[in-house]
Amino acid sequence: MNDRLAALSQSAKQELESAVTPDAVEALRVKYLGKKGELSAILGGMGKLSPDERRELGAKANALKTDLETKITAAITRVQDLALDAELKGAKLDVTLPGRGRSGGHRHPVSQTLEDICAVFARLGFVVEQGPEIELDWYNFEALNVPADHPARDMQDTFYVDGGTLHAGFARETPVVLRTHTSPVQIRTMLGQKPPVRAVMPGRVYRKDSDQTHTPMFHQVEGLLVDTKVTFAELKGTLDAFAKAFFGAKSKTRFRPSFFPFTEPSAEVDVSCVFCSGNGCRVCKQTGWLEVLGSGMVHPNVFRHAGYDPAQVTGFAFGMGVERLAMLRYGIDDLRTMFENDYRFVAQF
Ligand code: PHE
Repeated sequence: MNDRLAALSQSAKQELESAVTPDAVEALRVKYLGKKGELSAILGGMGKLSPDERRELGAKANALKTDLETKITAAITRVQDLALDAELKGAKLDVTLPGRGRSGGHRHPVSQTLEDICAVFARLGFVVEQGPEIELDWYNFEALNVPADHPARDMQDTFYVDGGTLHAGFARETPVVLRTHTSPVQIRTMLGQKPPVRAVMPGRVYRKDSDQTHTPMFHQVEGLLVDTKVTFAELKGTLDAFAKAFFGAKSKTRFRPSFFPFTEPSAEVDVSCVFCSGNGCRVCKQTGWLEVLGSGMVHPNVFRHAGYDPAQVTGFAFGMGVERLAMLRYGIDDLRTMFENDYRFVAQF
């Protein structure tokens, strides 16, 4: 029996040393230590021995078992290392390659542009005001001096939420619309505070439009400044300062006479083309100028509707499209990409 144990120890040691795969080691474990393994076979034959012999042999067998277990564990580690070495050699790992960075989330280009616009005006002392997107016709049109037969009120352009009901504070029915511009926030702001006012009003607006340059929802930033003796020169100075801060210090502005029911006089503001620096290109249609916003001196009727006395105060207002400014700034030519939210697109800004 002693000899059998010695032989078993010897052969197990040799076989374990020459095993090179995890499967081979596992097979040896079963062969030597398994229930039907060689060690069990030896122990099974111990019944025929005397108690003393059994004690002696049992101790030896147990020692051998512990020894084999240690050797098997060592062999497993060794063959696993071998496998890893082989894998690493095969994979030709290049530790000099740069790591894969984790990309964090970030603001949508429209949000970034909107925040940047407001930040420029914040430096000029403007505060931010907000109003509802679902708006009474009165604020959206009537109070802004937009006459009942004005084409902007047409069902073609305006989303009506309901046809006209009585609302608290209104003697007549007033329809509910999705606001078509941020200008109603001018009225709400003036109704809520005494002059002076110096505020920008960012937000979503809605129009029944959809093509390459129009989406049914877009963003505007409105501006309103009211005080005693505000002049058109201050309107020009403020918007020129904005253009230089937003498009670059070399930008120039140009004011063209225009019409809005809520301002008089009114002006369309152009900025020197950001793509060709005013030399003429495809984007500015060879004019060297890009139209960026509408503006004007607040109409006396608007002051009256808002409870301000047009004999006491003057002011200017302006409104700009955020998507349009973002497109000019980033050189994007299809407005719809702004809202498809293809991550490959938005991740570029
Ligand atoms: N509300 C006008 C528009 O949506 C823009 C504007 C605002 C013009 C304020 C003049 C003054 O086109």
